[in-house]
This record gives sequence, C-alpha cells and structure tokens, in this order.
Amino acid sequence: MLSAVRAQLLPIIRLYLLGLKVLLVQLFSTPFRLPVMPRQDGKVAIVTGGGRGIGYEVVLHMARLGAHVIIGGRDEQEGLAAIRRICEEYKEAKVEFKKLDLASLQSVRQFVQSFKERDLPLNILVNNAGVMLVPEGRTEDGYEQHFGVNYLGHFLLTWLLLDTLKDSGKCGHFSRVVSVSSSAHRIGEIRLNDLNSCQSYSAHAAYCHSKLAQLLFSSHLHQELQCGGFPLSSCAVDPGMVDTALYRHLWTPLRLALSAAAYLLFRAPAEGAATVLYAALSPALEGESGGGYWANGHREMTTPPTFDPQLQLSLWETSLQFVGLQ
Ligand SMILES: NC(=O)c1ccc[n+]([C@@H]2O[C@H](COP(=O)([O-])OP(=O)(O)OC[C@H]3O[C@@H](n4cnc5c(N)ncnc54)[C@H](OP(=O)(O)O)[C@@H]3O)[C@@H](O)[C@H]2O)c1
Repeated sequence: MLSAVRAQLLPIIRLYLLGLKVLLVQLFSTPFRLPVMPRQDGKVAIVTGGGRGIGYEVVLHMARLGAHVIIGGRDEQEGLAAIRRICEEYKEAKVEFKKLDLASLQSVRQFVQSFKERDLPLNILVNNAGVMLVPEGRTEDGYEQHFGVNYLGHFLLTWLLLDTLKDSGKCGHFSRVVSVSSSAHRIGEIRLNDLNSCQSYSAHAAYCHSKLAQLLFSSHLHQELQCGGFPLSSCAVDPGMVDTALYRHLWTPLRLALSAAAYLLFRAPAEGAATVLYAALSPALEGESGGGYWANGHREMTTPPTFDPQLQLSLWETSLQFVGLQ
C-alpha cells in the first residue's frame, strides 16, 4: 500500500520540483532570439502538431521563409484555422494540413503513404506533437498514451520517411529531423520490460519516460546516419516552459493558479519555437554538428542514460518490434 502511494507521489513531486527549477532558471535568463535564417524556397517540411502552440509558430516562421510546410495533425478544423491565419499574414504561404493521428500506427502509415505518392522531397521533419498528463489510456494499438503519441508514433513516422529524407539531403544541405523533447526527460526512465507502464502507472512519470525515449531515439538515429554517411542529421530540442494548451490536464487548482501566472512566467510560443527553428534551419548546424540536445539556443549536456549505446539500441529494436518492422 505504502509503496503504491510512493510510486504515485514521487513522480509528481519530482516533476513539479524540476518544473520549478526550470522556471527559476528561465526567469533569470534571456530568451534566445532566433537570428535571421536563410530563405527556404523549394524546401519541404513536415511539422506534427503544427495547428497550435509551439508547432504553429514553427510552421508560421518556415512559411514566411518560403518553405512548403505540411501540418500533420488530428484536428482538421484547428489545422485549417491555422492555415487561414498564416495566409492572412503572408499571402504566398504554402501550407497545407494532412490528417495524422500519432495515436494510431495505421494513421501514421496512411499519412506517409499519401505523402510519398506525391513524390515531393522532404528536407525537414519536426516531431513536435505531444500530450502531457493525459488520463490513463491506450492508443489504438494498445500503447500507453504518452509513450504511444510522443514517442512511438514519431518513431514510426521518422522511420517510414527516412528514405525520402536521405534522398532529399545533400552535402552542405543536410535534411534534418528535429524532435521536440523536454527537460522532463532528465527524470525519465526507460524500463525495457515495462515500456507501457503496465506494472505501475503515473501520468507524470509516463510523460518524462516518453521524452527520454525521444532523446535516445534522436541520438541513436544521428549516430546511425553519421556511420552510414547519409546527408541527414537528427537532434532533440527542449523549448523551455511555454504558455500553451499542453498544461490543460494539470490538476485543476494548479492549472488555474498557473493560467494566471503563465503569461508572466512562461515563454511565449514564438520564444519556445526559436530553438526548434534554429535546429531545423540554421546553417551553423550543418552536417555532423546537427546532432545533440539543444535548449535556449545552445547545445546542452544531458543525463547519462541518453548516451548509453546499449540502452539506445535496445529501445530502438524493441520499438521496431512494436511497430511491426522486425
Ligand atoms: N509547452 C511547454 O512548456 C513544453 C515544454 C517542454 C516540451 N514541450 C513539447 O513541445 C511540443 C509541443 O507542445 P505545445 O506546448 O505546443 O503543446 P500544445 O499546444 O498542446 O500542442 C500540441 C500539439 O500536438 C498535437 N497532438 C496531440 N496529440 C496528437 C496526436 N495523437 N496526433 C497528432 N497530433 C497530436 C495537438 O493537436 P490536437 O490535440 O488538437 O490533436 C497540438 O497541435 C510537445 O512535444 C511538448 O511535449 C512543451
């Protein structure tokens, strides 16, 4: 009984303490300002969850630079409204919405198939969509929601698009995969025998685990691409604490308290998007230097499990099995 209570309470305490620390650091540091990025005419980007929040700002900025951006999302109304807003501001914007539910591996496959039928290049993939602290539930394929949406759906999406990404990159103009992770990965764990959190479930822990899984995948992918000499890089980004709808599943009193303070204390979505855009577009991150973990415009060190090659490989192989590729 006591251990069950501890298993529930510990992740909550650890996540809120980490959040407090991140917030304090954020309050005393200047938000990264994105330098002027080169034009992106002729480039094609996919941004998952680009209908609102950080993803919307990423799409808006890329469209302004002339890229052809495809928003992959669940909610068509939200996606179309985002496109209308972008086109109001920038008439020549080339932005479209395509249905993608990361909680369904079939939907991921359909999204990739319809993209590939168009024979477009793919220069940038931003794995941005995410859920946090959602009530316990399973994806269409039976995976825990945070693990399934934040990590596994993006794992399959990236895997299926790898050939197009590789073919679209060239020396001096690598294609890029940018995974939007979180500082919450620092208190995540990869329990290979319980990736689905069946033995003990905590929404707080599940979010942290999924963000660590994204980082392990991103790092392993980058090394594989380097070894193979492919013109494609992979990195992960922490956008900071950003005032978005991601926090809507917080415990209600805390959410209400935060909603009053978030405007002052959190970064604005455009500020959260700045490092994501830097990772996706900056010529300074060309080639090998395109890997790593980035926060507030800088490469950051992260926790040891992220660099554990055996853990990376085991997660990679298990994920391949989960999505039916092995
Ligand atoms: N905000 C922060 O402080 C913060 C901090 C660290 C990391 N992050 C990360 O930043 C990323 C963007 O989050 P945000 O803050 O911009 O939150 P947000 O405003 O809630 O945006 C999340 C996006 O993901 C989409 N999404 C959720 N489930 C999906 C699914 N099954 N299939 C496809 N799309 C789905 C949402 O669309 P619908 O729900 O409408 O379908 C929405 O467009 C997330 O990965 C998050 O973990 C955010």
